[in-house]
Amino acid sequence: MKLVAKTLHGLEAVLAGELEALEAKNIQILKRAVSFDANKELLYKSNLHLRTALRILQPLTSFSARNEDELYKAVNKYDWSPYLSADQTLAIDSVVYSRFFTHSKYVSLRVKDAICDQFRAKTGKRPSVDLQRPNLLINVHVAEDKFTLSMDSSGEPLNRRGYRTKEHPAPINEALAAGMVMLAGYDGSRPFLDPMCGSGTIVMEATMIAAKMAPNIKREEFGFMRWGNFDINLWNKILEEAHKQIITPPERINGSDIALAAIDVSRHSALDFGLKKYIDFAVASFSDVRPMGRNGIVLMNPPYDERMKSKDIVALYTLIGDQLKRKFSGWDAWIISSNLEALKVISLKPAERHTLFNGSLECRYQKFDLYDGSKKRPVAKSAIE
Ligand SMILES: C[S@@+](CC[C@H](N)C(=O)[O-])C[C@H]1O[C@@H](n2cnc3c(N)ncnc32)[C@H](O)[C@@H]1O
Repeated sequence: MKLVAKTLHGLEAVLAGELEALEAKNIQILKRAVSFDANKELLYKSNLHLRTALRILQPLTSFSARNEDELYKAVNKYDWSPYLSADQTLAIDSVVYSRFFTHSKYVSLRVKDAICDQFRAKTGKRPSVDLQRPNLLINVHVAEDKFTLSMDSSGEPLNRRGYRTKEHPAPINEALAAGMVMLAGYDGSRPFLDPMCGSGTIVMEATMIAAKMAPNIKREEFGFMRWGNFDINLWNKILEEAHKQIITPPERINGSDIALAAIDVSRHSALDFGLKKYIDFAVASFSDVRPMGRNGIVLMNPPYDERMKSKDIVALYTLIGDQLKRKFSGWDAWIISSNLEALKVISLKPAERHTLFNGSLECRYQKFDLYDGSKKRPVAKSAIE
């Protein structure tokens, strides 16, 4: 079967790399998604192991429709009986980018009616709707008049690993955090630090990577478990293999933040998930943080929202640049921010640049090589003007 793994803008190649590692065949990069050929085993493995995927979809049918009648007829004509029965439940999740259809809820409603009417006409009974735990979650993707209807094998989005049980004002998406750690080339063999760790998302993802721990190993429910063809023995075998591959990270992982409340959230998540033993957390301003070890990776998601006054933002990013230059020679620094002006005051020349989205905010994710004293450090143009 062909599967489509959804991801975030800018992480498609990372996801394709993850699929290669799972030995997927016929991998093709799409927009915010990657398609690949799979059997049931790979379907289960991809839900369990892929760090940068949001959902794994199994496309069923594609058609074009420009009005609700055409939509209803196309969905009603497709045979739903192999995937659903009248005494089961369904839910529809629609994503619409179209001139012809403007309301995703309305699209969902018509698709649901067309499927339910098919069952009623054949059996006299119709499946009911269950938005929380449906037997079949159908993903409807509409691009202008092109519809693709897929079975969503994940259910709850895969980035919801389940470790974030307490609130933080600006947490980053878990799949984005994992993608950033992977783009930085981190594999656990070097020291790792997030000195503005907030609720600890980046640190948690880095620790799972270092421990070779599948990101969704703690999750008890996936959409495919409610499908009629769920093979529990196969699933248990895959889960057991995933447990066996976990190792103790060779290097400590470090997270710090100026806010005690943030470190409380981070500690709580790490403890809950059994990862606390691999991570050192500290309440500290970045100005007081020293590198632990040599040639590590320092990766951070500093504040960049408009709520902070520009004077403070400039001071903060100046501090980041100064600290990196003074203390972290020999390390790689990676910073994500939507504040391009603030990034400039870091006054280091980016060695690599990626465009990523943190929610709806377009961000730059930049690498800065921090050469040790013996090598000349490239200086950003703005710093010498
Ligand atoms: C955007 S949040 C990070 C969110 C985090 N990536 C997460 O997923 O929860 C930025 C964090 O930087 C921290 N921060 C701001 N200034 C700091 C400083 N000078 N030193 C250390 N941490 C600082 C804030 O307390 C906040 O938790």
